[in-house]
Amino acid sequence: MLFKTSTCILLASLALFTYTSPADAHSWADCIDWVFNDPDKQGWGKDDGKCLGYARRYPLGQEFGSLDDANPGRHYQQDGDDAPPCSDGKHGKDVGSDETRADPPEKAYGGKYGAMTVTSVNDTLCIRWPAKNHAEDNEKNSLKVLINFANKEGRDPKTQAEVTETFLVDMPYKNCDKGKVPDRRPCGGCFKVPPRGPGIYLLQWRWMLNKGEWYTSCADIKIEES
Ligand SMILES: *[C@@H]1O[C@H](CO)[C@@H](O)[C@H](O)[C@H]1NC(C)=O
Repeated sequence: MLFKTSTCILLASLALFTYTSPADAHSWADCIDWVFNDPDKQGWGKDDGKCLGYARRYPLGQEFGSLDDANPGRHYQQDGDDAPPCSDGKHGKDVGSDETRADPPEKAYGGKYGAMTVTSVNDTLCIRWPAKNHAEDNEKNSLKVLINFANKEGRDPKTQAEVTETFLVDMPYKNCDKGKVPDRRPCGGCFKVPPRGPGIYLLQWRWMLNKGEWYTSCADIKIEES
């Protein structure tokens, strides 16, 4: 009887798994300042480097790529053009975590959260994200991550249009390590920190999966005098 019950549960979970994956999994920025152990051997796995800076209120100590199952989840799908640029934990087609700007911004970092990214102009920042099944051969090679980087300090813009105006660079979404589990392949890309005065600036990671289907993560970047 016990055996039968567990078999039933197993079959039910298998059915659910088949039903919800792989197309249903969505990504987020897992690390904002990824540093390679060996700059000549760029990789995104746990043995290839470490994370020095995170998105807002990013919970530490979680298994890589697991935060879509967290409650609240880390992936935020914007709901139309008027959607908040950064998840507020209330709005969204997929409601995400609270990634609104803290006051002061430092309050969203440290303790149970990851550290804020500290960098300077012309430094290289490397960002990491989990593939969430979308780096396989049957996915478009044109999938991109866009980086928007505020021009000035201060509160977040209210609209995505304002954030989009600060577009800095895009990077191929499918730049991922090889791996057996398509959901958990680590991916990433690097860019140069743009010219800004010392201060704390909004960085938005933004990924379009299908036309008009956008996911975002938000982080504060502290730029120091170089
Ligand atoms: C950054 O790099 C540009 C171009 O290489 C250079 O003109 C500029 O002076 C650099 N800025 C800083 C703060 O290092």
